[in-house]
Amino acid sequence: MNIVLSGIKPTGIPTLGNYLGALKNFVRLQNSMTDYEFFVFVADLHAITTPQDPKTLKQNIKNVAALYLACGLNPERLVLFIQSEVNAHIKLGYAMQSICYMGELERMTQYKDKAAKQTQGITSALFTYPALMAADILLYDAKYVPVGDDQKQHLELTRDLAIRFNNRYGETFVIPEPLIPKKGARIMDLQDPSKKMDKSSDNEKGCIFLLEPINSIKKKIKSAVTDLETCVRYDKEKKPGISNLMTIYSTITELSFAEIEAKYVGKGYGDFKKDLAEIVACEVGKVQENFNRIINSQELESILNQGKERANLIANRKIDKIFKKIGLGR
Ligand code: AMP
Ligand code: TRP
Repeated sequence: MNIVLSGIKPTGIPTLGNYLGALKNFVRLQNSMTDYEFFVFVADLHAITTPQDPKTLKQNIKNVAALYLACGLNPERLVLFIQSEVNAHIKLGYAMQSICYMGELERMTQYKDKAAKQTQGITSALFTYPALMAADILLYDAKYVPVGDDQKQHLELTRDLAIRFNNRYGETFVIPEPLIPKKGARIMDLQDPSKKMDKSSDNEKGCIFLLEPINSIKKKIKSAVTDLETCVRYDKEKKPGISNLMTIYSTITELSFAEIEAKYVGKGYGDFKKDLAEIVACEVGKVQENFNRIINSQELESILNQGKERANLIANRKIDKIFKKIGLGR
């Protein structure tokens, strides 16, 4: 069976950007790609590439696992697991480092951005992160990897490494392809629409967290920066603020930009934002309701236990074959 796989780092509370760029997209794909097996995991090993408080990390891991289910992924068609509970990721991550060049890692824009922001020293794990990400994907022979726009470069490196390995050691890996949503792949910061909405941004007002109070979400939308023209029109270059809000509107309601523009002819930004606040509140409200039901349930524990077992079964088989091809061990 073909596999679709993706992961989210448990650093902080997932945002509306994660939801529209990743989570909502997984659910849509799961509903349409009925003959694929879905693997989703909490990328906790990736989280520790930047400093994390142990207690908070533990809570964030559970939150992300529960959020996957709260967004509507069907547990019966899903292998949901925690990365650090499958040792083969670390083994293959190391093997990937051994075929990946420094120059390739130095070119990664996410590394450059994060390294520039880092005040406490840059860890070597932050640098080699894309090799581990390649391992996450290749271990399961995933055919498709749904991610937001920001992960495109990491996916290209994963493909390069898979091809290099196959050439060097013989056919081993499926070459994966990214699945980037047409809309919602890059939700921008509400206060500074030139940067992406990010859990670890300095200004919380620009970022909507999936677990924050609904009233606070509405307030953030109403105070999002726009421009002086007061006409609801999509123009990403000249009107980045309103265009970002329209993207959010369109991704949730599935109305096109033209349909949204038509709906707000003669109306100002105030009306538009008020409606958008309600639309987002309703969508996130549903997710929060599900989340509250799941987070401390036995169901979550048993889904994660089953996921751990199935993921280990597949990953261990694969890593044995890979190490043999490389010539490791007896
Ligand atoms: P991360 O939070 O960095 O682990 O990202 C998890 C997933 O969410 C990845 O597929 C990202 O591409 C996606 N993502 C993160 N931030 C955004 C954003 N602002 N807009 C759209 N997708 C995003
Ligand atoms: N690097 C991804 C991010 O920051 C998270 C991730 C880790 C991932 N491993 C993955 C995504 C494998 C897809 C497939 O968003």
